[in-house]
Amino acid sequence: MKPRKIVDKIYWMGSVDWDRRLFDTLVPLPDGTSYNAYFIEGSEKTALLDTVDPSMAHELLSQLEGIPKLDYIISQHAEQDHSGTIPQVLEKFTDAKLITNPKAKGMLMDLLQVPEERFITVEDGERLSLGDKTLKFIYTPWVHWPETMSTYLEEDRILFSCDFFGSHIATTDLFVTDEGRVSEAAKRYFAEIMMPFRNLIRKDIEKLASYEIEIIAPSHGQIYPRPSFIIDAYKDWVSGTPLNRVVIPYVTMHDSTGKMVDYLVSSLVEKGVRIEQFNLAVTDIGKLAMALVDAATIVIGTPTILAGPHPYAAYAAFLANALRPTAKFLSIIGSYGWGGKTVDVLAGMVPNLKAEIIEPVLSKGLPSDSDFKALDNLAEIIAMKHKEHGFK
Ligand code: FEO
Repeated sequence: MKPRKIVDKIYWMGSVDWDRRLFDTLVPLPDGTSYNAYFIEGSEKTALLDTVDPSMAHELLSQLEGIPKLDYIISQHAEQDHSGTIPQVLEKFTDAKLITNPKAKGMLMDLLQVPEERFITVEDGERLSLGDKTLKFIYTPWVHWPETMSTYLEEDRILFSCDFFGSHIATTDLFVTDEGRVSEAAKRYFAEIMMPFRNLIRKDIEKLASYEIEIIAPSHGQIYPRPSFIIDAYKDWVSGTPLNRVVIPYVTMHDSTGKMVDYLVSSLVEKGVRIEQFNLAVTDIGKLAMALVDAATIVIGTPTILAGPHPYAAYAAFLANALRPTAKFLSIIGSYGWGGKTVDVLAGMVPNLKAEIIEPVLSKGLPSDSDFKALDNLAEIIAMKHKEHGFK
């Protein structure tokens, strides 16, 4: 695709990756993604903000063919989906300097072996003049690595935010047209990579409050002509206020655990609790991560296999522990044949969750009447605790 004009002298460059289905060999991308770079043509100097994933280097290099002079490449984040083509751009524009912060400089030297003499480092709040356009660098750590920063174009009041406010969507619509669709994709993205850092991201959002922002241009997905939409959504996601929801990631082998999950879900629904259940054998873990943003309670369902939880359940527990959702309560349900340490193993896998454990329910073989009674009791306790906390 050719460069596309955003406003006068500012262009989208980059690549729309329609086919990518997995990020970091982990995160599903059902709608593909884009790697957005931005070219700014000042009256005296030119700058390229970020680059693209190395797999799409040819597209960016082709877009840069028509650019006679590039003075600066600005790297806002060292992860390779944005930085990976920097070496080739530096090779093409031999006089260009690479602008970034000191922490990112070290990472770019480690990850891409960029020579030290090509760097100029900037401090938080420092400005760079391109003549009639001025860039101000704002450190915004942990969206998504510790070195990430955003860049504010003062004259046009555009915030270039890199991963911050981004979404994985492949589309030819440069600007957001369907806020509902973008909200879901951006929440998924937040859940997958930023949820553990929400307290720090809250500070990043507060830091931006003093800026007049007319457009947010992230490095994935569409550009926001109405920034308050995504800023308000982020404020909600980082608030850490759970909703009256139970998330149930589960796996079943011979349907005993499946029957228990069905029963618990029905019992919770009767008591006015909303549920999101995920069969781990078939689920999209991005959806699970997204559900964890608002969950008040997590109930993991698993059969016992080889004396412990099913590996899929262990994976869900590991993921939840890493993402550090704000869930206040946790329980385990499942079945076993003759014994095992399922509860101990799973409970030991989630030290980061600051959740109260509610008595697990384990069934020997197919669930019996007493097991169903125990599940009703579990549902009653969860519903009562949600009510006590005022979760809506
Ligand atoms: Fe889009 Fe953290 O890279």
